[in-house]
Amino acid sequence: MSHTHAHVEIRREDYTPPDYLIETVELRFELDAETTLVSSRLALHANPDRVGRAPELRLDGEELKLISLQLDGVELAPERYRVEEKHLVIPDPPERFILEAVTEISPARNTALSGLYVSGPMLCTQCEAEGFRRITYFLDRPDVMAVYRVTLVAPKSKAPVLLANGNRIETGELPDGRHYATWLDPFKKPSYLFAVVAGDLVALNDRFTTMSGRKINLELYVEQKNLGKCDHAMASLKRAMRWDEEKFGREYDLDTYMIVAVDDFNMGAMENKGLNVFNSRYVLASPETATDDDYQAIEEVIGHEYFHNWTGNRITCRDWFQLSLKEGLTIYRDQEFSADMQSRPVKRITDVRLLRSSQFAEDAGPLAHPVRPDAYLEINNFYSMTVYHKGGEVIRMLATLLGPDGFRKGMDLYFERHDGQAVRVDEFVQAMADAGGRDLGQFMRWYDQAGTPVLTVTDHYDAATRSYQLIVEQSCPATPNQPEKKPFHLPLAMGLLDRQGRELPLRLSGETGGDSRSRVLELREAQETFTFTGVPEKPVPSLLRNYSAPVKLRYDYTEEELVLLMTHDSDPFVRWEAGQVRAGQVILDLVADRQQGRGMALEDSFVAAFRTLLTDAKQDRAFLAEALTLPAESYLAEQMEVIDPDAIFEAREFVRATLGTRLAAEFQQTRAACAPSGPYRPDDGLSGCRRLRNLCLSYLMAPGSQPAIDAAFGQFRSADNMTDSIGALMPLAGCDCPERGEALRMFYEKWKGDRGVVDKWFTLQATSRLPGTLSEVIALLDHPDFEFTNPNRVRSLVGAFSQSNQVRFHDASGAGYRFLADQILKLNTINPQIAARMVTPFSRWRRFDAKRQEMMKKELERILAEPGLAKDVYEIAAKSV
Ligand code: PHE
Ligand code: ZN
Repeated sequence: MSHTHAHVEIRREDYTPPDYLIETVELRFELDAETTLVSSRLALHANPDRVGRAPELRLDGEELKLISLQLDGVELAPERYRVEEKHLVIPDPPERFILEAVTEISPARNTALSGLYVSGPMLCTQCEAEGFRRITYFLDRPDVMAVYRVTLVAPKSKAPVLLANGNRIETGELPDGRHYATWLDPFKKPSYLFAVVAGDLVALNDRFTTMSGRKINLELYVEQKNLGKCDHAMASLKRAMRWDEEKFGREYDLDTYMIVAVDDFNMGAMENKGLNVFNSRYVLASPETATDDDYQAIEEVIGHEYFHNWTGNRITCRDWFQLSLKEGLTIYRDQEFSADMQSRPVKRITDVRLLRSSQFAEDAGPLAHPVRPDAYLEINNFYSMTVYHKGGEVIRMLATLLGPDGFRKGMDLYFERHDGQAVRVDEFVQAMADAGGRDLGQFMRWYDQAGTPVLTVTDHYDAATRSYQLIVEQSCPATPNQPEKKPFHLPLAMGLLDRQGRELPLRLSGETGGDSRSRVLELREAQETFTFTGVPEKPVPSLLRNYSAPVKLRYDYTEEELVLLMTHDSDPFVRWEAGQVRAGQVILDLVADRQQGRGMALEDSFVAAFRTLLTDAKQDRAFLAEALTLPAESYLAEQMEVIDPDAIFEAREFVRATLGTRLAAEFQQTRAACAPSGPYRPDDGLSGCRRLRNLCLSYLMAPGSQPAIDAAFGQFRSADNMTDSIGALMPLAGCDCPERGEALRMFYEKWKGDRGVVDKWFTLQATSRLPGTLSEVIALLDHPDFEFTNPNRVRSLVGAFSQSNQVRFHDASGAGYRFLADQILKLNTINPQIAARMVTPFSRWRRFDAKRQEMMKKELERILAEPGLAKDVYEIAAKSV
């Protein structure tokens, strides 16, 4: 490790309670984009629970200019404190004292978007995880909780709106056209939940009456031009508030709930107490500019941040290793909310798809870490798929193991015991164990062991005794620092079908009665055998219903068995999965054919099964669209020993084009049957129909015939909504035809004033599989609308190309790799968090052939050699190489 990279590793086992606590915080901001003055007044005292004597006070602080410092009202002499690069140290303070500091910061120069920064017409903050220390000196850790009183001062013309957490208790005018507002948040909170916003904004207002009859003001702040795009977010908020009351008995606790939409934001949104700050893409929507997926994502993220008020804010994390305590739990809650608002099976399928394409890849590579990590250099790098989405699956397994009532009791007990506290994952699981009367000791391994477990299932039927054995073995591959794994405690939901597809009763030997057709087996050992009795014939096992555990399942199904499950199983997830497994087999066989220079041919039986599904009018449209979507290139890649991006792409395209040709009539028919009958409404219950219709179009476009191109271009021109517009433009953007350029031009001309839509325009081009895509992407870096300082824009071009265009990013020339490394180095100085996230595609280098390995490693080394590399980027690159 070179000197400049001597970053300190923070380890979970090194936790000690804070030496000092802060009871109250008073802040005064004199807001100005260039220079903001922050005056703080902290009431500190030595922590009675500290380990040993409290020798010195070490406050966190970064990029701050200290203007003045007073202790108990007296200016502190220079020999009584030290300013270090990241700390303010007071060697010998009293037991209890008031510390007053004035610091100067520059929002306009804050391109990292952590702390106080400028976004469009406003100043706003982002403090999670460690952004508060970029505002003032503080004990910036989640187990230091305080009551905040905040005064904002700004010129009224520039910032008519002044917002902070809690309740507005005072406002007034000041000389020189300035005004102020004072806010008090009565709830104790950690600094990461602090927020202020000041700017030229307007609000959409609404009301919500809680279950106990309290009236809550709902305020959604946006730029004037976006006021017409807020209705869906507001409606989603009200649904989320009602849902948390009904499902978890949780009521909102302040009198006002505020949401602010900002264009420049590192993540999706932030749950600051009473004042959520949102990436504008998760707020703004109109039929013309947002797709059905966008509408869905808004509802989900609005729900997520709202649910944090109880799981995150009222009960928060003791330290950042416990991040999944709030994030895994809140992901589970938002998934359940969305499932209740739409088709539950389709929601589950979408969530599993995401988990398996992104989290599994993370868990299989050098960045694998447990849901509760053991160590980090930069906590921002651990807002990961594993902490969020695997963490959500872990909560889901608890819900499956305890059942709905047991889980609800556990949640109630958790809230009852820990409201107002900063706790660990252990406290949560203990509440579940106590409420359910269960030992969850072994279950804790899900938090401590990384890697995706593999379940290998074999079976044996004995006709003489009419008994059926299911033999389940579990194993988990080694991950960094964890060579050996112990078995997990997990729920395996299952059923058995006879050869006609009827469900059989599930009676385990030794049981009497018991006539259930679906049950949850609990696994605890490396190998276990379950013997079912009274089984009349050799059954087909339906395994991992509703995807009851985040594992890879291995069972050797025949083609007939998969078709039986696809057509007959009572569990929609298993029906979908059987089709995916079958399609995966077909494509991977073709990959092998292509690699060995054999011609590719698609089996008739596959086409026939596909036709049956496509023409099954009884199927739910949204479900059908999922079932007819082939496994993604990235998911297929996961299943190969050595990833061959070209062969995967070509085999998958071959299947799409063959289906598009051989089933053209059926695709046209289904597409016509789904034609819109009236103007678009986002909540008209027809989103499944639109999805299916657009999927049919993309199959028809796959062989690239002129009638299909005409149909796509026709849909593109006549669409009255963004879903259908994108549904046509996406296949056009992947088509080497004159209509492509024309449609993309028309689209840009129409939407060039709309940030969100322009992001889509960049992404469409970045994800086109045409061979010239990389040169187009490089040219787009110089487009007047491209900005390195806006995270959404960077993600829409650089992120989309490197993470969602496997075949072009992994171009055999290595040009895609050079491109990405260049952009990472550029972003390193602008926004280290975003730069670090862009490194992940390189972390998969070991999965590719020797030549690609070499080239990717070279780029990682080039990144690591950069002087002044941010620790965010350093951590990901160093672990990857
Ligand atoms: N806590 C936010 C969420 O999950 C995510 C976030 C993390 C936002 C860090 C900003 C910075 O809802
Ligand atoms: Zn969250």
